[in-house]
Amino acid sequence: MDITFLLNGESVELRDVSPTVTLLDWLRDTRGLTGTKEGCNEGDCGACTVMVTDPIGARALNACILFLPQLNGKAIRTVEGISGPEGQLHPVQQAMIDHHGSQCGFCTPGFITSMATAHLNGETDHATALAGNLCRCTGYAPILRAAHTAETLPVPTWLKADTPPTAAAPERPTGPTVQPDTTDQLATWYAANPNATLIAGATDVGLWVTKQMRTLGPVAFLNRCTDLQQITETDTGITLGAGVTIAQMIPLMDRLHPSLGQMLRRYGSAQVRAAATIGGNIANGSPIGDGPPALIALGATLHLRHGDTKRTLPLEDFFVDYGKQDRAPGEFVEAVSLPRQPDRLKCYKISKRFDQDISALCGCFNIAVENGTVTAARIAFGGMAGIPKRAPHTEAALIGQPWDDTAIATAWDAWEQDFTPLSDMRASAGYRLETARNLLSRYFLEDIGGHVSVRQVGA
Ligand SMILES: Cc1cc2nc3c(=O)[nH]c(=O)nc-3n(C[C@H](O)[C@H](O)[C@H](O)COP(=O)(O)OP(=O)(O)OC[C@H]3O[C@@H](n4cnc5c(N)ncnc54)[C@H](O)[C@@H]3O)c2cc1C
Ligand code: FES
Ligand code: FES
Repeated sequence: MDITFLLNGESVELRDVSPTVTLLDWLRDTRGLTGTKEGCNEGDCGACTVMVTDPIGARALNACILFLPQLNGKAIRTVEGISGPEGQLHPVQQAMIDHHGSQCGFCTPGFITSMATAHLNGETDHATALAGNLCRCTGYAPILRAAHTAETLPVPTWLKADTPPTAAAPERPTGPTVQPDTTDQLATWYAANPNATLIAGATDVGLWVTKQMRTLGPVAFLNRCTDLQQITETDTGITLGAGVTIAQMIPLMDRLHPSLGQMLRRYGSAQVRAAATIGGNIANGSPIGDGPPALIALGATLHLRHGDTKRTLPLEDFFVDYGKQDRAPGEFVEAVSLPRQPDRLKCYKISKRFDQDISALCGCFNIAVENGTVTAARIAFGGMAGIPKRAPHTEAALIGQPWDDTAIATAWDAWEQDFTPLSDMRASAGYRLETARNLLSRYFLEDIGGHVSVRQVGA
């Protein structure tokens, strides 16, 4: 396919690009822009971070798991384009020098592009913005001091000038690699090519190529289906299009269900959250995805589409078994919707590291209490089974009980009816079961007003 983008202020047009060449490989091997480094090649270290601007705004993204077609119609800044055309330093570069923020220097280009993006967007929670950039030798304190120092300095004019070009596109998506403009086009093409791979944010699919060396057959990129990226709010509910990113969900959830907003800040890193979509997070069927347990606890409905045929199902019913979802060939996730409800949701992500780590388990609780009695309960966990899973026995044991220590004790045995967790490198089965029980106690203590500090974003 043909694509157009702006690279460090210069227009680039490429013809017949391979769908699975990564931006990182193209920058380094074809364009000779070796400032962007390859560390892990799987989205974990941030050495390959670039700034990507489109109508949504400027985002830091990992070039190692971005395929070239995803850049169609966008503006990219590599570290070479963060400094000015006459070699002027960006304020974050000067601050890194002043604060001795670079030792061996391998991570520095990635830090600079992340810091410049945060600076452009006026972000001041630097620990969160930089959690996806790893440094092995300098240490983070000087880097955080540099980011803080640059906060109030103006954005350089050359960075303000980036206007994403109009994307190159075929009039009708045909052929083995497509980038449809609308969900209708996607539905028609996918129904006719049911064995194709859909690529949304590529934070999973990218690794199939860079780590598993898989060759993909026909592919459809979803990133230009703007109608798939809508958030719709009504009096009765909220609908998230499948293409809504985790980063876009955060402000919404901060308002509606703040505990989920807080948890999503611990989902991957800024670079991962800016690329990963909620549709991909559901469709991949991972037993340790962080989105599904929270959405199940909120009573989400999944919207699936095949050609012109649409159907809905409770999100929990989509996850049939490990690696098996209720999705037919040629059918895709169009949206997920949530009923509007009073906020009683609490989400607990348990992982070895606070930032940038996969859950050992993720428990989400939504328990309604009226006049001191539990009237409804939705509890869902990731990491406790081969799929994201509700806890029906525990829920049933709680409903009708007085909301006090007795309820927790009454539910004690039900956990083992709901879950038979595995032991793996993230946690043992015993740890998982005990933690799940303790999280219910924690929910209870938080709910009755005891202050339990569960997370310190930005600390
Ligand atoms: C460094 C790193 C950290 C991560 N941290 C976390 C984390 O903390 N928590 C977490 O939950 N996940 C995490 N992930 C996993 C990943 O980010 C998520 O699963 C992500 O939501 C996938 O979304 P995507 O848009 O990138 O999907 P893609 O990679 O584009 O696609 C994933 C799968 O879904 C399919 N797909 C995509 N969209 C649709 C659709 N609309 N309909 C049908 N099928 C579709 C694709 O064909 C593919 O099979 C991490 C990944 C990386 C690389
Ligand atoms: S090389 Fe590590 S995130 Fe891309
Ligand atoms: S300066 Fe050496 S890895 Fe960061």
